[in-house]
This record gives sequence, C-alpha cells and structure tokens, in this order.
Amino acid sequence: MPSWIILIASFLLGSIPFGLIIAKSKGINIREHGSGNIGATNVLRVVGKKYGISCFILDFFKGFTPTVIAAAVFLIEGEQPLIAIPALESFATTYTADQRSLAQTLIILTGLLSILGHNYSPWVGFKGGKGIATSAGVLVGLLPWPAITILVLVWVILFFTTKYVSVASIGAAISVPIVCIYGSYAHGKIADGTWNIPLFIFALVIAALATWRHKSNIQNLINGTEHRFGSKKK
Ligand code: G3P
Repeated sequence: MPSWIILIASFLLGSIPFGLIIAKSKGINIREHGSGNIGATNVLRVVGKKYGISCFILDFFKGFTPTVIAAAVFLIEGEQPLIAIPALESFATTYTADQRSLAQTLIILTGLLSILGHNYSPWVGFKGGKGIATSAGVLVGLLPWPAITILVLVWVILFFTTKYVSVASIGAAISVPIVCIYGSYAHGKIADGTWNIPLFIFALVIAALATWRHKSNIQNLINGTEHRFGSKKK
C-alpha cells in the first residue's frame, strides 16, 4: 500500500469532529458553550460525563489506530517499524539504518497528521480541537509505557493540584520530549548511539502545537478567568 494513502487516511480520520457530533446528538452546539472547544473536556463540561469520556475515547483512537496500523503496514512492506514499539522490536536488526529512519519518519508523520486533522479539521472550518486526546493516542501507539506512566503521572499531579485541565494538558504536552528521550533510552537507543531524531523532533512539534492550541486557556489563566474543574460554569 502506498505510504501516502495511510498519511491522508490518518488526517481524514483525525478530522472527524466527534465532540461536535456528540454534542449535536443532544441538540447542543458545543461551539456556543463552555470554552467553545470541540474536545472531550468541553463535552464533559457542557453535555455530561459519559459523553465527555466517550469523546475522549473516540479522539484517543483517532490517533492510536492509524499509528499502529502504519507501524504494521510499513513492517509488512519490509520497512523498519518504529524501534520503540516493543512488539515489533525483534524485526529491528534486519533493516538498514536508512530504511529504519524512513519507516520511523513515516509512522511518526502518520500520527502527526491525525493530530493535525483533529486540530485543523476542514469539516469545521479548520478550527478543530486542541489535540490532547489524539496526541495521547499517538504517543501510546509509539511509546506505550513511557507515555502511559510519565504523561499520565504529570497530567494527574497537575490536575489534582491545580484543578485546571488546561494546566495539566499543557504540562503533559511539555513533558512529551522527556518521554521520548526516556523511551529511546529505555530501548537502548541512546546508549548504542542510534538516537531517535525523528521521534524527538516529533516530540518538540507536539509540545509546541499543544501549547499553541491552548493560547486562549493561557490568556484566561493570566486573566484569572480560566474554568476550574468543580467550580461553577463561566
Ligand atoms: O484538552 C483540552 C483541555 O486542555 C482544555 O479544554 O475546553 O478547557 O479549553 P478547554
């Protein structure tokens, strides 16, 4: 299968605005309520807990599914899977460094495109969500244990100490490069000198993109008007 089909399919899957659709099914235009964002946090805030959780799961799998499919497809076609995926590691030694680098880049691009599809969905005038759930899906696909342990820990600590979802999300996003360094280290890629450059560039892009998409939240935090979980809706 040509790589470009997977890349475009990933963008299109990411672009499905599940939050908007879920809220609409309850007769609510999510754009006009809460933060106006189409993400799981605002769906939970405006429509309800089970709808917010459903939205998170759907947005998560928009990132996870194409990432693991890309890894499997590039493997089937004889390219190198992302080394950091433990289940595929046994195939790592049979490919040249160039093949490995190309496949890593394609798998990472597939994940990135699902996030861009979510954030800049053409179906909602390119004004999509903030990409946290979809990024989490991509990262769990790429680096399951570092992503699950470090990112969830950072998110939970920041959320329970501040009660701001946005602070927790931005903090977790900024930690992504650390997760990728740890992921490469855990898989011996720093020690043996084959440091995973595409993965680290991707991590920096994810951190910058998520922070940029939270600029209205950052402004609200500065103004003291950011919605705090558990407080009355603003
Ligand atoms: O993942 C989005 C979250 O960090 C903030 O959502 O609706 O409060 O802008 P919201």
